[in-house]
Parts: sequence; structure tokens; C-alpha cells
Amino acid sequence: MSPTAVPLPTFPSLAEASALVEQLREKATASGLKLWSLAGKTLIPVVQGGMGVGISAGGLAGTVARMGAVGTISSVDLRRLHPDLMEKTRPLEKSRDVAHAKGVIDAANNEALRREIARAREISQGLGLIAVNVMKAISAYAQNVRTALEAGIDAVVVGAGLPLDLPELAKDHPKAALIPILSDARGVQLIVKKWEKKGRLPDAIVIEHPRLAGGHLGAAKIMDLNDPRFDFENVLPAVREFLRSAGYERHIPLIAAGGVSSHEDIQRLQELGADAVQMGTAFAVTQESDAAPEFKQVLANARPEDVVEFISVAGLPARGVRTPWLDKYLRIEPKLQAVAHEKRCNMAFDCLQHCGLRDGKSDIGQFCIDKHLGHAQEGDTQKGLFFRGAGKLPFGSEIRPVQDLLQRLLGGRAAVANP
Ligand SMILES: Cc1cc2nc3c(=O)[nH]c(=O)nc-3n(C[C@H](O)[C@H](O)[C@H](O)COP(=O)(O)O)c2cc1C
Repeated sequence: MSPTAVPLPTFPSLAEASALVEQLREKATASGLKLWSLAGKTLIPVVQGGMGVGISAGGLAGTVARMGAVGTISSVDLRRLHPDLMEKTRPLEKSRDVAHAKGVIDAANNEALRREIARAREISQGLGLIAVNVMKAISAYAQNVRTALEAGIDAVVVGAGLPLDLPELAKDHPKAALIPILSDARGVQLIVKKWEKKGRLPDAIVIEHPRLAGGHLGAAKIMDLNDPRFDFENVLPAVREFLRSAGYERHIPLIAAGGVSSHEDIQRLQELGADAVQMGTAFAVTQESDAAPEFKQVLANARPEDVVEFISVAGLPARGVRTPWLDKYLRIEPKLQAVAHEKRCNMAFDCLQHCGLRDGKSDIGQFCIDKHLGHAQEGDTQKGLFFRGAGKLPFGSEIRPVQDLLQRLLGGRAAVANP
């Protein structure tokens, strides 16, 4: 087993784990929810969304998959979970030999991704499905996609940008499910038509609501976040209608993401045309989440007024908790933007394809995202950037096991004692 920062828990036997999957499936169908299929597997209708940096790694994704759902590893900067890789790469972060440093850091992240996929597989024991989420906006996007596919990943999920090139990157891996994250019907039409010309259709599509989800959001500007075109009531039926009228015979599952916290939410979204839901924040605060305990506390204890939207250095709106660092940053953002100029980034590896700080773009974010996500991953509540969705959490501020969360979501309120 590869060295990891998180000790491995004891797993139930395959027979016990399979019995739990069966019980969760029965609970879901008995309470009026529909199961769904992806990559040849029948699954409970809950997907754990990818969360970087180091929030959903092999531990969380493997645990979720073991319960018959989709668990997603976020590929971003996973070396941070591996002390040996950090020891090797930290001294290079500000190296002047940029090409060498970037090569070593990227290689460490790919090694960490392989280790986390292996860890998730060991935990899941072949149950459920394991996906890797890669953000289109990161410079290591193509490398991370290839690493995940070469490691035999079940599904690749891409958000934070339009993955027009994903079919080419995955051409030698016809069995891997390819899943774009989009937010409106126009985006879906664009991707489906472009991919079709390359001989591949999405195996599922995540429809993420920018007014509700955590992390980077699929709208161009903060003022667009409330646009009704993103409302599930509009986008889910519109996408279903587009897929039907375009004549796609194969059913393309839709996964609704953002603000889901209850059985009623899942039922409502399935009635609107979704096959499954994707949840982030609620999984980030579970016991098995790969995040630091302080990270979970910041998300779980945030009040609605503590959750804010801002423009990230990647140029997209993002949502997170107004921690001391973010509060200060937002107050001085106009001043930082006024003096934006190139080369204010002194990191040796270009973590993003486009970065407001590095490229001196005065109309977008002006902070080092890798540094502040790194602080959050280490549990530094003062300096960290803590992404969070806008919705309420199923167990309030309690940190509970993944199993409690799934029981609650699939079986209705009676399934787990209310806190
Ligand atoms: C801490 C955190 C980190 C996230 N990181 C990513 C990411 O790296 N890539 C991505 O596509 N989505 C990311 N997301 C979005 C989630 O995968 C998910 O779609 C979203 O949070 C769903 O909304 P919810 O939090 O209301 O359930 C992140 C969300 C959170 C809360």
C-alpha cells in the first residue's frame, strides 16, 4: 500500500459491504427514488462530487463507492496528501528552474493520483463506481485525464471549463465514462454536438446550479448566478427535450448538482428529469472525508450570511466561506486589481492555464489559489480558502459518517435519528 496521510480504517468484508449496498438500494426504491445506471453498473442515485484540494481523495471516494454510489477523487494537487511527495517537491515550489520544477511537481501529482485511485479501489472492493474529477482550468488537465484513464478509472468528470477535447484524450479508453459538468441547456447542446462529430457522446452530464453549488461556478459573472436559465425547473426539462429532439436513442443520464440536502430534493429532481444528484458540501463534512477536521468545522459551522461569492483567479465566479483571509482579500480586491501586472506569481509551476494574478488580469481574482487552498487543506482557518455550497446541511453542524448521510438521503427522515 502506498504511503498516505490518512490511516486506513478497517473495512467490512465484501459480503457485509454488498449487503449494505442491497439495503440502500431497497430503501431508495421503497421510498420512491429511482436507481440509475452508468458504465454498466446499477447505482443508488447519489454522486459524491469531486472536491479539491485534497477534500475528496481515495478515502472519501472509496467509501462512497463501497456503498453503491459514485465516489469522485479530485485530481488537483494531490501530492499534498503524501508527505514523501511533499518533501520532494516543496523545496522546488519557488525554484528558478521553472521547467524542471514544474516537471517534478506534475509527476508527483500524477503519482499521488495513481495512489489515490488505488486507495479508493481497495476501500470500495469493486462496489459502486469510482470517478476522477479534473478541472479544465488547471494546466495539468490533459496529463491528469491520461493518468486516470491509464489507471483504469471508471469515469472522468470535467468541470471549470468546456472539455471539447475529452473524446480525443480518451480515444484509447472506450469503456471509461466521460462526464462533462455544465450549467445550462446551451452548454449541453454545444458539448453534445461537438463530441458527436468526434464519434463519442457524454455517458452522463452533470448539471450544476451556479446559485447553489460550492467551488468554481458555471456562470460568466457573479451577477449571472441568479439567472433563471440555470434553475433546475428550466434546465432539466430543456436538456431532456434537446436530447429527445436530437434523436439520441441511448439514454444520457443527467446528474443535478447544487443545494441538494434531502430525500425530497432528490425526488423532486428526479421528477424534473434528473437520474441522480451530485452533492459536495455534505460529503466534505463527513467523517470519512479526506479534509482536515478544521476544514469540516469551517464548512459545517458556516451560517448562510458567511457564504460569499467572488471572482476566482481562474476568471470564474466561486463560492466559499468568508474566513479571515477571504474577508480581508475581498476588502482589498479593488486595490489589488488596480495594480495588477504580470509576473506577480512566484511559484515555479503554473497551476492554472489562465491566472489573474500570474497574467496580470485586472478584472479577475488577484490571489494565489494554490497557496490558499493548500492552507485550507492543512486546516488553517485563518489563511485558508474554504469552498462551500450555499445550501443547508442534512445534519446541521454535525460531522457524521457517509453511511448516515446516505441512509438519510435515500430512506427519508426516519432512517437516521434526527440530531
Ligand atoms: C470544498 C469544495 C471543493 C470543490 N472542488 C471542486 C473541484 O475541484 N472540481 C469540481 O468540478 N467541483 C468542485 N466542487 C463542486 C462539487 O463537486 C459539487 O458539484 C458542488 O459542491 C455541489 O453543490 P453542494 O455543495 O451544494 O452539494 C467543490 C465543492 C466544494 C464544497
